[in-house]
Amino acid sequence: PGKDGVRRFELSMQAGQSRLLPGKQTATWGFNGTFLGPTLRASRGDKVQMAVRNQLPEASTVHWHGMRLPARMDGGPHQPIEPGAVWEPHWTIDQPAATSWYHPHPHGSTAQHVYRGLAGMFILDDDREVDLPSTYGVDDFPLILQDKKFTAEGAFDGDPLKGTFGILGDHILVNGTFNPHLKITTERVRFRVLNGSNARMYNVGFADGRRFHVIGNDGGLLAAPVEVDRFSLTPGERAEIVVAFAPGERVVLRTFDNGVDIGKGDFDLLLFAADPRLKPAPAVPSNLTPPSPINVPPGAKVRRFKLNGHDAINGKGMDMSRIDEVVPANSVEIWEIENNVYSHNFHIHEVAFRILDVAGGKPPSYATGSKDTVYVPSKSRVRLAVQFGGYTDPTSPYMYHCHILRHEDSGMMGQFVLV
Ligand code: C2O
Ligand code: CU
Ligand code: CU
Repeated sequence: PGKDGVRRFELSMQAGQSRLLPGKQTATWGFNGTFLGPTLRASRGDKVQMAVRNQLPEASTVHWHGMRLPARMDGGPHQPIEPGAVWEPHWTIDQPAATSWYHPHPHGSTAQHVYRGLAGMFILDDDREVDLPSTYGVDDFPLILQDKKFTAEGAFDGDPLKGTFGILGDHILVNGTFNPHLKITTERVRFRVLNGSNARMYNVGFADGRRFHVIGNDGGLLAAPVEVDRFSLTPGERAEIVVAFAPGERVVLRTFDNGVDIGKGDFDLLLFAADPRLKPAPAVPSNLTPPSPINVPPGAKVRRFKLNGHDAINGKGMDMSRIDEVVPANSVEIWEIENNVYSHNFHIHEVAFRILDVAGGKPPSYATGSKDTVYVPSKSRVRLAVQFGGYTDPTSPYMYHCHILRHEDSGMMGQFVLV
């Protein structure tokens, strides 16, 4: 932060050409560059002041996914930035350490704007010390997973608003790189994994089947690390993991076909190449510093949402001028999401939630932490305990929606206000 305690960020949305495939140029969009954007970082208590300049040929918005902030600063479809204009939202970071992200949210064009490359990480810190790898770019790396389809010439192929899910690509980029490798220099490394794809679900693990720890979900750390050999993420979800490496080894991170409509196919994501000598790193602590639990009061209000086809919730398509739900500030509610068709997921702006159950059973133990986006498997019901925040504004709504962007853009989205 500067002398005045304000942390200033400048983002410029721009169009250009990127070398995503060897020897090919792709027309792309990015923040402060031509593809993806810088990792933003701020600490609890910081005042942040953004300047977001739109140098694109069309209006867009920038939404701070996972951030708890006033609705007018949220960057949803009600905060358009016209070409040439600058948007200057500001707020105070008041939430636990977490891996959030930012991306455009113009209603009807989110799928296209994100697919072209507009997305970035937004890491939040707090001062609750815990002994985890945390040196950015050394033993703490973001991994943004995005699937793309290319023409023979290297242009983006396909229409993100066609078909059941839009595009399910056959080339997976990690941080904008196809077929990447990463040099490992320490015994343990933390990865902040973001599914920044339009529709694809990843079922992530290692080619050699090794086990590793999931330490965090969308909204912060888990209470304790959970050992797994796989974890899955639908679009918009994040997980933090810690992986142990042996000196000199090479191992591939992969997504495995999980038989689900949006999770088909095995793809290599990233090759890790460990140095012959690795810097020692402490074991993963058995207790972490999670956000406070969410206590559901007796008689908590229950709201029910039915996902219909690919374009409606409770029989209604998104209408920017209709407020669907009015929620008391600081309340805890139960939201039930029902899905009678193919895969969807569900994201709620501004809140933190816990998954109570999925199809009547417990969620996977690696997904028991603080969340803002959840997979809603086909023909199932998911129940959430939702903690709403305190920024009342009866006229500016927050969004809830399926984060499969083809569905969001087609109208599988609704609006709520906090009062
Ligand atoms: Cu990540 Cu409403 O979006
Ligand atoms: Cu969001
Ligand atoms: Cu959907």
